Amino acid sequence: MKDRVPAPFFSLLQETGELAERRHVRVYAVGGFVRDLLLGIPNLDVDLVVEGDGIRFAKALARRYQARVTTHNRFGTATVTLADGQTIDVATARTESYEAPGALPTVKRSSIKEDLRRRDFTINTLAIRLNADHLGDLVDLHGGLRDLQNKTIRVLHGLSFIDDPTRVFRAIRFEQRLGFQLDQDTAVLMTEAVKMGLFHRLSPSRLSAEFLHVLSEREPVKTLAGLADFNLLQFIHPQLKWTSGLARLLKAVEKAVAWHAGLSLGPLASPWVVYVMALMDQLPQPAVQETLARFTFPRRETQAMLWWANTQVRPYEEAPLLRTLDRTVKPSETFRTLRNLPDETLVFLMAKTRAKQKIVDMFTIYRRMKPVLNGTDLKTMGLKPGPLYNRILDRLLDARLDGTVETETDERRLARRMAKQS
Ligand code: CTP
Repeated sequence: MKDRVPAPFFSLLQETGELAERRHVRVYAVGGFVRDLLLGIPNLDVDLVVEGDGIRFAKALARRYQARVTTHNRFGTATVTLADGQTIDVATARTESYEAPGALPTVKRSSIKEDLRRRDFTINTLAIRLNADHLGDLVDLHGGLRDLQNKTIRVLHGLSFIDDPTRVFRAIRFEQRLGFQLDQDTAVLMTEAVKMGLFHRLSPSRLSAEFLHVLSEREPVKTLAGLADFNLLQFIHPQLKWTSGLARLLKAVEKAVAWHAGLSLGPLASPWVVYVMALMDQLPQPAVQETLARFTFPRRETQAMLWWANTQVRPYEEAPLLRTLDRTVKPSETFRTLRNLPDETLVFLMAKTRAKQKIVDMFTIYRRMKPVLNGTDLKTMGLKPGPLYNRILDRLLDARLDGTVETETDERRLARRMAKQS
């Protein structure tokens, strides 16, 4: 562990273990942190399980580091946020029982053994003890290490997906992300869970969260293809099918997202939206509306997606965007048609339409252009302030974009001419 995490992070774990010893509780690092540590994948997102009162321990840890702590008493969990932004999730070791498939579990305090038994896959049941005397001891009660070595995703018991159907999505995410295989029995259980339609019982917010996790993977297209293999696209919308056209469009989206990421403009706020736009593009407009009403995506993103669905159903003559993208037009027309669209939409249009170059120019040239003159300059030139200023500045920008002015003198000449004509 010492060799695989940064030194200050190792000290943090060590001191957590010393604190645990002083408070007479046992503390373990568990779940994804341990899995990724053993696989050599950087992940400092640590989850702790405390045999004892997790919330009290989290508060003590927060005091020790003068950190913030937020608690969720119902679940016996807390999050400690250190001054440098590092968060540590702390949970009381617990058992969970499920009263109905897809519902949230009922929680009771218990031991690490019980806590690990309720988890999804063997590779996520590994724990590392942190207490001073046992720092670094691996707890492997379900053959997690063996499955990490065999690259296998395996559930702990036959009812795992019935307890929590979102685990089917998780299995596919881990399979694709880690390049692992699904254990045969696990794959059969997943197919059965899909056939039983357990997903219909999940609340829209849980389904949305799971869908977002899928789309936020590093390679969402692979993960979506994995969902399609299990006939899971139906939970996005029953009419949504995996076709070669969709596969092609998603590949193009992946390429466009990667291109944008290389521009050093800063990352897209919601790259996942571009993938959802590609999925929605396969559906008729009413189905898009139904889907977006069902998922609880944020408003800005939902609007961007609806906008595309609505644009496509408009008659061609009334869709300035489609016409602009299709024809040879002046740069100023491209700029004016595209300037209010979110970046995610532009990236989607780059993947979807033949107007790639226009989008490239928009990001790399048009958006950076500005006239040399500003309002103050117009005033100094003796032009009377008023609405005319905006018209002049707009026109100067168009002229810059179209290359009809090149120098400051050109701009002054154009501004004067407009003032005279008004
Ligand atoms: N877990 C589970 N069943 C779920 C969700 C989570 O058993 N439906 C358990 C797993 O043991 C998992 C741990 O809770 O390792 C933490 O969950 P989460 O943070 O979602 O998973 P990670 O394994 O850390 O996955 P990721 O790398 O995607 O963050």
